[in-house]
Amino acid sequence: MVGLLVLVSLAAGETAWAQDAADARGRVPPGMVVWETAGAEQPQDSPQLLAAGEALYGIRCAICHGKQGDGEGPAARFMGSRPRNFRRGIFKFRTAKPDGLPSDRDLFRSITAGFPAYGMPSYRYLSDRDRWSLVHYIKALVAAGAEEQFRRDAAEFDEEVDPAELQEFVDSMMRPGTPLSVPAEPKGGDLDAVARGRKLFQTDTYQCVRCHGPKGQGDGPSAKELQDDWKNPIRPRNYTLGLAYRKVALRRQDVVRLILLGIPGTPMPSNSRPTESSRGTREAWDVAAYVEHLTAEARQGSK
Ligand code: HEC
Ligand code: HEC
Repeated sequence: MVGLLVLVSLAAGETAWAQDAADARGRVPPGMVVWETAGAEQPQDSPQLLAAGEALYGIRCAICHGKQGDGEGPAARFMGSRPRNFRRGIFKFRTAKPDGLPSDRDLFRSITAGFPAYGMPSYRYLSDRDRWSLVHYIKALVAAGAEEQFRRDAAEFDEEVDPAELQEFVDSMMRPGTPLSVPAEPKGGDLDAVARGRKLFQTDTYQCVRCHGPKGQGDGPSAKELQDDWKNPIRPRNYTLGLAYRKVALRRQDVVRLILLGIPGTPMPSNSRPTESSRGTREAWDVAAYVEHLTAEARQGSK
């Protein structure tokens, strides 16, 4: 039954994904979640909302993410990428820096979009309120994980748990990350952006090629030896399969954000250059243009 469910959701993900691949340069295909706009209104947090989230989580999410949110649900071992362990509080896809949690909207977006390529379906069909309830419940799991960690550390040192210190620790783990703004594309010079981006892709400053390979196929020299923070092997993304891996639009500005932020929990590094000088900004937009170009090129080649 579980296997069947997973297969069905994978198949559904792939059809929708193939449609996305028909999208032209830089535009957002229908059905894609856009970073900034996913999820209009957030209902006030309340015990009812949290309880609704807990119930829904048990039905829809626990099978992969585990009842306790530890990523060890019964279907977890069938996934190409491990379901997230929410109790660690590490999240990959976000508009807020990893100095804290992703924004609520970031979590809402991930739930809306799903990770079809990795087996997590899109939950767009749930009402906005249901998805927000899940956001709140996931945060409750992060808080529970922080408390657990504090108590474990205290036990290890044979210390009494001071409730005030415990609360302080949990609060510190629940702080939202600093919102990240993407510097606007500098005017002019778009004509050569791809050529410049191709060069930058290979440089020591950016090192994209080390992991993603010269054509973005995920076959760079370091590709085989990468591990994520959970100690699972991880492969750099193969762009030739399309950028729409996650049903979240990956426009040039989104790639610039990725360069700035990296992907927390994975070896994909962050690079602050794009915000440090106008030259850095130009470079990041050029690299993004090249990423887009590689994807478009691969798409044409496969027709
Ligand atoms: C079929 C398995 C499966 C189901 C069911 C599932 N997920 Fe996931 N989920 C995954 C996998 C695999 C990942 C990791 C993807 C990655 O690392 O790229 C993930 C990642 C996530 C993330 C992390 C995003 C980030 O930024 O790191 C969130 C949030 C999430 N899931 C929420 C949910 C919620 C809420 C539900 C239920 C409504 C759910 N998932 C159901 C497999 C699943
Ligand atoms: C040390 C290895 C490494 C380097 C260097 C690296 N990446 Fe990545 N990148 C990864 C890994 C691993 C993933 C897949 C993460 C995942 O699946 O969760 C990834 C994913 C991506 C994605 C897909 C993100 C998404 O949201 O789906 C893009 C785009 C990307 N990288 C672009 C770049 C660019 C551009 C550079 C150079 C500025 C670069 N990467 C440098 C390892 C690397």
